[in-house]
Amino acid sequence: QLPEQVTIKEVGPRDGLQNEAKRIETEDKVAWIDHLSESGLSYIEISSFVHPKWIPQLADAKEVAEAIKRHPEITYAALVPNMKGLERAIDTEIDEVSIFMSSSETHNKKNINKSIEDTYPVLKEVVEGAKQADKSVRGYVSTVFGCPYDGHVPVEQVLHVCDRLFEMGIDELSLGDTIGVADPNQVDRVLEEVNKRFSFDRIAMHFHNTRGMALANVLVSLQHGVTIFDGALGGLGGCPYAKGASGNLATDDLVHMLNQMGIDTGIRQDKLLVAASYIQSKLDKTLPSHQMQVTNRS
Ligand code: HMG
Ligand code: MG
Repeated sequence: QLPEQVTIKEVGPRDGLQNEAKRIETEDKVAWIDHLSESGLSYIEISSFVHPKWIPQLADAKEVAEAIKRHPEITYAALVPNMKGLERAIDTEIDEVSIFMSSSETHNKKNINKSIEDTYPVLKEVVEGAKQADKSVRGYVSTVFGCPYDGHVPVEQVLHVCDRLFEMGIDELSLGDTIGVADPNQVDRVLEEVNKRFSFDRIAMHFHNTRGMALANVLVSLQHGVTIFDGALGGLGGCPYAKGASGNLATDDLVHMLNQMGIDTGIRQDKLLVAASYIQSKLDKTLPSHQMQVTNRS
């Protein structure tokens, strides 16, 4: 029995752009997000308040957050690594704060310059600060299905990080296959363990399509009752601090599959593809999603 309804969280303007070498103009990012807001999406992660030297592409997070046309029914979120980032985010009246860390030691160190243990107090302060400012908080755990540096990550280690984040008071947790190594059997095994501890109404899956398995992994997740998925339009994306990371699961491919299966997303594929064509025209490449390949041919 598959869910009848699924929520898709668009992370393209953040996860998609953070790995793009070509600098996109602020006004083009804003226009892209405004297109996305017209598509029926209920959630858009618009940028990231990390250190601008670490992610130069997203150095204009404030300008983007202040210029987009906000729709009251859409949650506009941004990544926040620490208190400095939270101050910057709150200044722009972002709706939701996304904290993030990794379940493997080396990726955590390369990505946010701290050990896992030293990351908890930093994030705890961010969650408390965000709650005081009346913001909801989403947590990401990266390298859930494998780490580019440490290899296999034991599920117990992943669950421990999830526990610690939920204890801080986060509202939702997104499980990241950062480098796209998960296979359907592994997703099945991990979700069985996750389900013993957490309710699926607060768990999202964040797949990358590096090895072409993202949609297969979505299907297994649906069979477990997961109803929240992250996607990046056109299949843009990847973590610059994960060697070998590539595009996210493409939102347009996901919407297509769910539409075909009669699962409601509330999203209009035609409008999504308009948004995808827009950002594609600002990049020096064609977008890798299947839907965009079909669109580009026709
Ligand atoms: P650090 O250098 O250890 O920071 O970086 P620090 O706390 O030692 O501070 C050093 C200086 O940076 C200070 O300035 C701070 O004020 C400043 P100084 O006093 O020397 O003049 N600073 C900041 N400035 C602006 N904004 C800030 C900020 N923080 C400190 N937020 C830090 C630590 C976490 C900041 C850095 O490592 C960083 O920005 N990392 C971000 C890396 C990143 O964005 N990675 C990609 C996102 S994660 C991902 O893609 C995975 C995901 O998609 C899920 C999945 O697929 O698995 C979410
Ligand atoms: Mg990601």
